[in-house]
Amino acid sequence: MSTPHIDAEPGAFADTVLLPGDPLRARHIAQTQLTDTIQVTARRNMLGYTGVYRGRRVSVMGGGMGIASTAIYATELVRVYGVRRIIRVGTCGGIGNTALGEVLLAQSASTDASFNRHAFGGHDLAACADFKLLRCAAEVATKTGMGVRVASVFSTDRFYDADPDLVPLLLRHGIVAVEMEAAGLYGLAMREGVQALAIIAVSDHLERGVHLTGAEREQGLDDMAELALECACA
Ligand code: HPA
Repeated sequence: MSTPHIDAEPGAFADTVLLPGDPLRARHIAQTQLTDTIQVTARRNMLGYTGVYRGRRVSVMGGGMGIASTAIYATELVRVYGVRRIIRVGTCGGIGNTALGEVLLAQSASTDASFNRHAFGGHDLAACADFKLLRCAAEVATKTGMGVRVASVFSTDRFYDADPDLVPLLLRHGIVAVEMEAAGLYGLAMREGVQALAIIAVSDHLERGVHLTGAEREQGLDDMAELALECACA
């Protein structure tokens, strides 16, 4: 069995899939945080793995960049492989009072993309995280002393050449970060009746022009993957 973008066998994915953008990040999580790991797909080098974390089967797969790519993989995972829970682990550009390295649990995701509007009869969808998953991540983070902020984010279709008025507009609405996937993932999950959450670290500050180093980014992503894996087991 395969889909246009995933060449895994039926049943190859666990109920829960961690979805970093970068397939090499998926491989890193699989190799360092899961046991009994097998690679289940590599079509277009978008690597996917299934392994075990704390006695429970979990999968991790790259989703690429942007709503279009993320939605392709998420749709096929849900509709064809029966995945019920997708946890994005990734990075974002912070604005306002966000700090580099800060971890955000995206409660809601507004967007300039048309993806949800098309599917929602031209109306504006309130794309939001699954509450149980969000609560679980917030509770686990509190228990383990990992500081997180429950936040509203903005999923843009454009990494470059953003509208100069965008940042003040976002701040005016209490939105504290820009990334490229959460709104699409949330809208899709709402329509498919599955759970989704985006756990994202501030890797860049858009107004201050500062960035995490490669090593800081890696450590942050490892910590977020652990938080996501704990929620997969909850
Ligand atoms: N914009 C959009 N997505 C991002 C950014 C950004 O500045 N940084 C990390 N992901």
